[in-house]
Amino acid sequence: MTAALRLRSFAKINLGLEVMGQRQDGYHELRTLFQTIDLHDDIVLRPRPRGIVVRCDHPQVPLDGSNLAVRAAEALKRHGRVGGGVEITITKRVPVGGGLGGGSSNAATVLLGLDRLWRLGLGPSGLHPLARRLGADVPFFLVGGTALGLARGDEVYPLRRQVHARVLVVDPGRPVSTAAVFRRLDEGLTPRENSYTIFRFVSRDLEGENAFSVLSNDLEEAALSQAPDLRVAVERIRGILKGGGCSLAALSGSGSSCFGLFDDPRKARRALKALEASRFKVFSCRTVSLEAYRRAWSRSLGREDVGVGAGPVKERTSWRSRTSRSSRWTTRS
Ligand code: C5P
Repeated sequence: MTAALRLRSFAKINLGLEVMGQRQDGYHELRTLFQTIDLHDDIVLRPRPRGIVVRCDHPQVPLDGSNLAVRAAEALKRHGRVGGGVEITITKRVPVGGGLGGGSSNAATVLLGLDRLWRLGLGPSGLHPLARRLGADVPFFLVGGTALGLARGDEVYPLRRQVHARVLVVDPGRPVSTAAVFRRLDEGLTPRENSYTIFRFVSRDLEGENAFSVLSNDLEEAALSQAPDLRVAVERIRGILKGGGCSLAALSGSGSSCFGLFDDPRKARRALKALEASRFKVFSCRTVSLEAYRRAWSRSLGREDVGVGAGPVKERTSWRSRTSRSSRWTTRS
C-alpha cells in the first residue's frame, strides 16, 4: 500500500473584502483579495483498506461527517469511484472560527493530497468543482498566494503582483460564525456601487503605501456588532499595529482574528513584543506567494512519506536573522 502523505495546510488572510450585494443562492457577491500565510495546520493522510476517519485533538474540531476534511475525502472518493479509505490526522494550529480559512484549507489540502494518493490525476483545475461545493473559500486554497476572489469568493484569479510581507496575526481567542456575520450584514446592507478599490489595486493603479491604505473589510462592522465583546480588543490590537508602523491592519474575513502587514521586520518585531506585553496571542508569520505555495505542493506531493519535520516552506525561526529589507512587491509573470 502507498505510504502516508504529510502536508501543510496554510491559513489565509483577506487583505481587502467588499460585499457587493446578496445573490439569489443566498450567498453574497464578493470582491476579495486573498493571501496565504505560513501559519499552518499539519495533515497526515494514511491510506486504509476502507472507510474515512479523522483524528484531531482540538476540542472545536468535529470528528464526524460534518468535518470539512471528511466531506472533502468523501466527495473525492465518490467522484473518483475509489474503493479504499483514508485516515486523516489534523494537528491544529490555525485558530478555529478566526476568519483564517482553517477548515477550508484543510478541505483543499485533503483534495490535493488524496488526488495524489489515489492517483486520480485531477489536479487543481479538476478539483475546483468539488472544492466550490464544499465551501466558498475552498477553491482559493487550490491556488494560494495573492489572488483575487470574485462571485462567492470561489472564482479565483492569481495576481501577477504577489505581496511579500511580514504578518502578525492576533487571535482574540473567541470564534465568530461567518454565517451569523453575513446575516448581521444583511440587516444594514446597502449594495455597493462604483467601488473600484480592489480592481485598482489589482490593476497596479495603486502602489506602495497607498496600495494598502485604501483596502477595507466590509464585514468588520457586522462582525463587531455580532460579537460586541470583541470591539475593545480589536481597537487595542489595531492601535498597537498601526502605532508599530504596519501598512495595513484589519480583521481577516468575518473575524475574529486581526492581522497587521509589515514591510519592515524590525517594526514587526517591536509590534509583536508590544502585543505580547498586552497579553495577546500572536502568530508571527510571512506571506506565502503563489510560487512558494506551488513549490510547497510539488515538494510534498512529489515524494511520498515526507518525513516528520520536512516541510514545503522554508521557515525562519527568528526575524533577527534577516537584515536586508526587501521590496514589498515583486512581479512574477
Ligand atoms: O461557503 P461557506 O460554508 O464557507 O460559507 C459560510 C457561510 O458564509 C455561508 O453559509 C454563508 O452564510 C456565508 N457566505 C456568504 N457569501 C459568501 C461566502 C460565505 O453569504 N460569498
